Amino acid sequence: MNNIILCGGSGTRLWPLSRTMLPKQFVKIFGEKSLFQMTEERNRRLCSSSLIVCNAEQFFLASDQLEESSKAVFLLEPIGRNTAPAIALACMLLEPEEIVLVTASDHLIKKQSAYEEAVKTAENLARQDYLVTFGITPDYPETGYGYIEADGADVLRFKEKPAMEKAERYMHANAKLAAKNLPAKYLWNSGMFCFKAGVFLDELKKYSPAIFETSAAALNNKVTVQERQYRIKHEDMLAIPADSIDYAVMEKSDRVKVVPCDIGWSDLGSFDSLYAETEAGENGNSVIAYSEGSPELVCVDSTDNLVISSERQIALVDIEGLLVVDTSDALLISKKGSSQKVKAVTEAIKKLKPEL
Ligand code: GDD
Ligand code: MG
Repeated sequence: MNNIILCGGSGTRLWPLSRTMLPKQFVKIFGEKSLFQMTEERNRRLCSSSLIVCNAEQFFLASDQLEESSKAVFLLEPIGRNTAPAIALACMLLEPEEIVLVTASDHLIKKQSAYEEAVKTAENLARQDYLVTFGITPDYPETGYGYIEADGADVLRFKEKPAMEKAERYMHANAKLAAKNLPAKYLWNSGMFCFKAGVFLDELKKYSPAIFETSAAALNNKVTVQERQYRIKHEDMLAIPADSIDYAVMEKSDRVKVVPCDIGWSDLGSFDSLYAETEAGENGNSVIAYSEGSPELVCVDSTDNLVISSERQIALVDIEGLLVVDTSDALLISKKGSSQKVKAVTEAIKKLKPEL
């Protein structure tokens, strides 16, 4: 099995921890290893090869974080066109019969053995020509995720990023089932997939032929930079319509299966989800030391705060429910529960400093 690692995202909701030049997957948020390194290690146990799809500007960042002996293949994109083209290009580099495990590079998975079990189940279904998703039981009505309406391993419907009303309806239906001790019917799509490269490409060709054709042309015209390193040309990448795998294929295909699993998954998309992953100390205050630093936090009559810092000493007095993210050149202070809005900060900064 080949592990396709998608690293093209910029993680704008984690500013200033995540930057254009150092996206969150490469930041050492939890201890000694970045999320990208943790992803690569987690899947190395399950996959015999890996294919990293990232922006050409991030090649050194990514390759520096791999062990010297790594035989990972790099596919470099001059610009991002979202996940459907990234996965299509990667699959076109492989044999059609090869089974791939597509993973994000910035997720946390805390239960390794449950994860390995789930991947093995998925691999068996992929062998039978299915597009396999991994379903997580939702615990709140998140509108930034995809939802899988499941009946066991069968997928009745895949709905990407529903409106709040719909997400709430899904949660309601799940709660009714939970009251009867029955498993959830609506699951979050974890953003990981398992399928034969050729089966995915057939479905892409069927449902999003323009992405298929332009990706095939782009791959055909790729530049071999060196052994195990390929680059797509800028004009070829521009010609590919941007879309995610979820809209381009998963919502439309009738070959989708799901492996419901409890793997300690978190997509760490925002500071609120980061807070949920920390072990809060006394009075609900949490501190995350990134980049292997060791900041000290002093709290006086303060509760439910998250402080992220590398070095500096930080003190809170009479503060409740704040997110404080301290880096060497930027400081973010936000209310807890508002961290989805941090994306607006990066948009505002881009307007002020378009060169960044
Ligand atoms: N190479 C490459 N090129 N990678 C990309 C690109 C691109 O253009 N765009 C995004 N990625 C990478 C991101 O770095 C991330 O690891 C992964 O692909 C998913 O992209 P996101 O942009 O984070 O997707 P999302 O969060 O909106 O939604 C997806 O993930 C959710 C779970 O986290 C969907 O699959 C949802 O259905 C799912 O619930
Ligand atoms: Mg995401």
